[in-house]
Amino acid sequence: MNKTAGASCLLEGIGLHKEFPRPEGPLVVLDDTHFQLREKEAVAVVGASGSGKSTFLNILGALDTPTAGELRYRGRPLDTRDQKVVDQWRLDRVGFVFQTHMLLPDFTAYENLLLPVRVRGTVPQEQRERARRFLAAIGLEDRATHLPGQLSGGEQQRIALARAFMNRPEIVLADEPFGNLDREIGGRLGGMLFRLRDEEDVSL
Ligand SMILES: Nc1ncnc2c1ncn2[C@@H]1O[C@H](COP(=O)(O)OP(=O)(O)OP(=O)(O)O)[C@@H](O)[C@H]1O
Ligand SMILES: [Mg+2]
Repeated sequence: MNKTAGASCLLEGIGLHKEFPRPEGPLVVLDDTHFQLREKEAVAVVGASGSGKSTFLNILGALDTPTAGELRYRGRPLDTRDQKVVDQWRLDRVGFVFQTHMLLPDFTAYENLLLPVRVRGTVPQEQRERARRFLAAIGLEDRATHLPGQLSGGEQQRIALARAFMNRPEIVLADEPFGNLDREIGGRLGGMLFRLRDEEDVSL
């Protein structure tokens, strides 16, 4: 049935509740939401605009804290209030593709790819070569020196996508990475995303 059945639970959200305070009363976006991601699994979260998908993914990636509920990584609670622990966990284990590409405008395509590596410390030669390989894999080897503003929307998204895999994450959280692209390009990038996932052996 499910090829991942029995695989251990990588990331788990238990009773996640999120509300935003407002003058007219709190806005409840997540109400007792449960979620499980097993190893090698790919999960899609669907819902109408404004239904809380980005909020949910931000909580799963510990970029935001739930009002109530718990996040577990490999069965252990993740203390989302301990910023240092959470930052390190995210850096080591999680790759993000945001709804908007979030490339740094003053860095070239190649430098943007290496950003997550740089944040962790010095960039080993092996990672420089990996960034070059990724550029080739997404068909942008001849755009390495372009700034994001000198890339098309789809090219920017491809860089953002590859960047999420640079630190060899276990989990990639992708928030409608192709939402603002046309169908054909979106489809192609989707294929690319799954190819990277298979080659890099991550959960999505
Ligand atoms: N920081 C915030 N403060 C108050 N309300 C917020 C905040 N962030 C999000 N919201 C509200 O929470 C709801 C869910 O937002 P979210 O961005 O998670 O939706 P979404 O499902 O990702 O939508 P889309 O498909 O348009 O990206 C929205 O109605 C939004 O107005
Ligand atoms: Mg969203």
